[in-house]
Amino acid sequence: MAASDNIPTHIAVIMDGNGRWARRRALPRHAGHRSGVGSVRKIVELAAEKGVKYLTLFAFSSENWARPREEVSKLMSLFFEALQREVEELHRNNVRLEFIGAREQLQTGLIEKIAAAEAQTAGNTGLRLIVAVAYGGRWDIVRATQSLAGKVAAGELDVRDIDDEAIAAELQLTGVPDPDLLVRTGGEQRISNFLLWNLAYAELYFCDTLWPDFGDKDFDDALAFYAVRQRRYGHTGDQVGAVN
Ligand code: IPE
Ligand code: IPE
Ligand code: MG
Repeated sequence: MAASDNIPTHIAVIMDGNGRWARRRALPRHAGHRSGVGSVRKIVELAAEKGVKYLTLFAFSSENWARPREEVSKLMSLFFEALQREVEELHRNNVRLEFIGAREQLQTGLIEKIAAAEAQTAGNTGLRLIVAVAYGGRWDIVRATQSLAGKVAAGELDVRDIDDEAIAAELQLTGVPDPDLLVRTGGEQRISNFLLWNLAYAELYFCDTLWPDFGDKDFDDALAFYAVRQRRYGHTGDQVGAVN
């Protein structure tokens, strides 16, 4: 198999750098977020084209609620508008759109839009596009723990049956294979409370490109980085075979 054929099944992306992109242009931070929507369109297209099965995008973290009220409110409006504008085309392209995160924290209008988009695209068989909004990896694990503890307390689950699988089944990405590749734009090399459990064995790719500037070349570079990784999962290189 040529290295170029080694396409990740699931790519997770921390879309960072919108604020800096705007500042460099002496624009308000919001202009960066707005421009970032174009990069979302682009990466969805590229991922679908390459045969990626799952694309999970970090759009708003649990911690991002702490930003200035005006920025948060403009971001929420932007999510609403983007849904309004983009869902038809995603649907035409057979994309299944889903959201993860504490959606009960969002405004009713946005919750309804999300639910409608999910329902409209639920039967699509192409790329699964998962958008993380009001999402935090710790929040996800806390929720899973509460659910499991509740089942134990109700006598539905034995403590000894709590294993990797049981925990994974309670997480937001239940039924979705773990990300193979994590891409973070914007130059920071950290996870920022994204998918803490699911990223256990992801290959990590960091680039300096600011999210609104993300394009074909960045995507190709990330795929090229991934294609030559040897994924060992704790085994030796010899055990897992072909060394790249
Ligand atoms: C990422 O860009 C988008 C969100 C977190 C909503 P930032 O807004 O964090 O941009 P920088 O990191 O300040 O440049
Ligand atoms: C991570 O970016 C969250 C999203 C991209 C949605 P942040 O900009 O919030 O991360 P930190 O604060 O630099 O770690
Ligand atoms: Mg940032």
